[in-house]
Amino acid sequence: GGVAMAKDKYKEIVNVSHRGASAYAPEHTMVSYEMGEKMHGDYIEIDLQMTNDGQLIAMHDVKLDRTTNGSGLVKDFTLEEIKQLDAGSWFNEKYPQFANPEYEGLKVPTLEEVLQKFGKNKSYYIETKSPDVYPGMEKELIRLVDKYEINKEKLLVQSFSAESLKVMHDLDPSIKLVQLISYKTNAAITDAEIEEMKQYAMGVGPNHTYLNEEYVQKVVNSGLELHPYTVNDKARMQQLIDWGVTGMFTNYPDLLHEVKKGK
Ligand code: G3P
Ligand code: CA
Repeated sequence: GGVAMAKDKYKEIVNVSHRGASAYAPEHTMVSYEMGEKMHGDYIEIDLQMTNDGQLIAMHDVKLDRTTNGSGLVKDFTLEEIKQLDAGSWFNEKYPQFANPEYEGLKVPTLEEVLQKFGKNKSYYIETKSPDVYPGMEKELIRLVDKYEINKEKLLVQSFSAESLKVMHDLDPSIKLVQLISYKTNAAITDAEIEEMKQYAMGVGPNHTYLNEEYVQKVVNSGLELHPYTVNDKARMQQLIDWGVTGMFTNYPDLLHEVKKGK
């Protein structure tokens, strides 16, 4: 019946811990990722930057300034230098309501450390950020995925760069890909755009702000997954699920878990 169907649909909504449980702990730290797991996030979302010595690290910005006590471009520093930085104290200053002395001095994790810590059967949702700045980042990502024998059924790689996703697809067609899109006004998508994306991607990740039900239905009915970002309030989560999205990115995986439970 309709009610049972609706409940199943809710259970299957993919809960992506955006930068970890980043509302509650400093984004892209092990603590934030662990908290995302505890709060029932299915996937850990990881943004990638690359150091001067070619190491992939978990960080959103191309610059160190916002999320560490360092400054300058990631690409100008070695991993050893970046490991000296404090990636937690900024959070306590910016979000006093969630501050915790244990966040002081947290380190920037490498992708390798994250894969080692959470293991081959965790679900990872990894973004190639600024691939134009970091030639070879896709190859290095695949090297680590292979080295740690990451379960590719549970792995998703995302990017705003179609070029980067196509490089991934050519290097390893077995890795599932999601095309990110940032709409500046009412979201609309053509059949041709959907067909083009389906050449390499199994899903679309648009900003949620300008979505509408017609867009959601069109994408989902085409067979693509639809994972909007970054949805932080329960009413909006509920609305997007009702429209038919198949998952979403959130800084509050606990809230999405509640919505999925009908709370
Ligand atoms: O990856 C989904 C979402 O995180 C994209 O935007 O800037 O938060 O990486 P951004
Ligand atoms: Ca991201």
